[in-house]
Amino acid sequence: MSNDPSDDVQIVTPTDKQVPFVVQVQTDFLNSKHCCCLIPLGLGVNVKSQLKMLNSTSKTTKKSVRSYAALALDSDGGAPLGFIQLKGHGMVCDLHTPKVGEVYVESLAVLPTARGKGVGRKLLQWGEDLAKFDNCNLYTLEVLNGNAAIRLYERFGFVAKSDDACEWCIGAAFVCCFMGRPYGCLSPMGAYTMEKRLEAGGGDGGGEGMERG
Ligand SMILES: CC(C)(COP(=O)(O)OP(=O)(O)OC[C@H]1O[C@@H](n2cnc3c(N)ncnc32)[C@H](O)[C@@H]1OP(=O)(O)O)[C@@H](O)C(=O)NCCC(=O)NCCS
Repeated sequence: MSNDPSDDVQIVTPTDKQVPFVVQVQTDFLNSKHCCCLIPLGLGVNVKSQLKMLNSTSKTTKKSVRSYAALALDSDGGAPLGFIQLKGHGMVCDLHTPKVGEVYVESLAVLPTARGKGVGRKLLQWGEDLAKFDNCNLYTLEVLNGNAAIRLYERFGFVAKSDDACEWCIGAAFVCCFMGRPYGCLSPMGAYTMEKRLEAGGGDGGGEGMERG
């Protein structure tokens, strides 16, 4: 029998009623970082903007953004524990433009009290299954240097994409100017893209009805 505490965690599509949790778990993380040392990064994330985003669709594939989002629920009573938002080709995305065949992790966050129990990994796995079901072959994300999440991503099979030196300098300068050193002065600078190549999963590409759990 498996002792993995995340085994009983359920993965569901967020309903409108659960959007306040989605906002809370994201803003808790984003507000710990400040643009130009002043403006909390979660400032623009609110229930209205989140609902508008979830109810939008990809301009090219017509898939709904909500079908690319998932909540992890506790087995005792279904309290939400974490959230993942993926973006595919044609979906409006803040810092990245997903290509054809790419699924990008735009947001991943787990409640501080639920961390370290496999919930983040389960949400990442759900995203990979969705990507394969939609016949995508590239799973990507961007992460700030110094974030402890990098260990999780590496264990999950993501590898850092090697940017050329010029791109790295621009990224490091951008993060430094706008966010300072979010993980402390001694942490490495900048941010980078990580990717995982996927074998197409032979899904029907429908995505919307993919089984959760
Ligand atoms: C990153 C995050 C989603 C991981 O979720 P999780 O449920 O704790 O992840 P798992 O339990 O599946 O995996 C644990 C791994 O996550 C990483 N991790 C990152 N921050 C962690 C934390 N505060 N507590 C525990 N693990 C953390 C570690 O690599 C850990 O592995 P380790 O035990 O070998 O150190 C979660 O820590 C979080 O919400 N962090 C804040 C938001 C964030 O940084 N999101 C990623 C933006 S790119």
